[in-house]
Amino acid sequence: MTDGEKHVGSFPTVRPRRLRRDGVRELVRETRVSPDEFVYPLFVRAGEGVREPISSMPGVERFSPDTVVEEARAARGDGVRAVLLFGIPREKDERGSRADAGDGVVQRAVRSLKEELPELTVITDVCLCEYTSHGQCGIWEDGDVDNDATLERLASTAVSHAEAGADVVAPSDMMDGRVAAVRRALDEAGREETAILSYAAKYASSFYGPFRDAADSAPDVGDRRGYQMDPANAREALREVRLDVEEGADMVMVKPAMPYLDVLSSVRREFDLPTAAYHVSGEYAMIRAAGEKGWLDDAEAMHEAVLSIKRAGADLVVTYAARQLARRARAG
Ligand code: PBG
Repeated sequence: MTDGEKHVGSFPTVRPRRLRRDGVRELVRETRVSPDEFVYPLFVRAGEGVREPISSMPGVERFSPDTVVEEARAARGDGVRAVLLFGIPREKDERGSRADAGDGVVQRAVRSLKEELPELTVITDVCLCEYTSHGQCGIWEDGDVDNDATLERLASTAVSHAEAGADVVAPSDMMDGRVAAVRRALDEAGREETAILSYAAKYASSFYGPFRDAADSAPDVGDRRGYQMDPANAREALREVRLDVEEGADMVMVKPAMPYLDVLSSVRREFDLPTAAYHVSGEYAMIRAAGEKGWLDDAEAMHEAVLSIKRAGADLVVTYAARQLARRARAG
């Protein structure tokens, strides 16, 4: 190496700080957060005129089918395009009978949303845990969830959501073969155009705690490790995603998001389907709680969280902070 070459490619010739000035930083930014990619989860319960704060999720509320329209309209105003609905029925039973009821809370909310806000994309969560008295995600039989008996219940739930007008159904139960069962049932019902966003790699995570409060869906007996994935496994996630792709999923999701960014990034690399990530209730609540204590700036931390999820490869992000983040993105 001659003296003249010595500095090429390193300091002091190279100074990365040159690109970290105002006006240049924005030009070279690799990842952007846009409200176009947000999905805003909404909890719908029975009743009228309901807006019920959820103590474990500051800033998140439960709505009735009428007030959920107001909230979705406000979210549209902030620039959010899509919502994801969860139902909390008045009554629960062994089979989760209210999950596929034509006059169920989700079905009613979907109808009102599509009528009042036709341009809003309505996604519905398809699972039984909010509807069963035991809180398991399927038919509970001798201390375990009966996989194949559950498929039929999931499929008819998905069809009832599609018939109410849902654009996308999102099975979140983690039963084997559910994507194929849902696709077949939708097609048989003439709903070929309804898309499936599958919660393909969903882990048995402690970060769902606040959600189970919000949806009143914590299992009474046992846990969900018999169907949700072991947090220790990453290769298995690729296998789960592959199966859902083969069964006809249109989009796949990794959940939770931040503790599983490695999984998200390999799913994005291995598959060509749109990839979603769910920044779940516990991830949201931790940031809000620290913000309330004054330990960090929660608006900035929430943005950074979603930015990291996008950087890891998510095309769309499910986030309870969708409205705040959309407003922030618009304000620049
Ligand atoms: C239903 C479902 C859950 C979540 C989304 N769909 C709960 C669970 O599996 O226990 C969690 C979402 C969140 O924590 O924000 N099965």
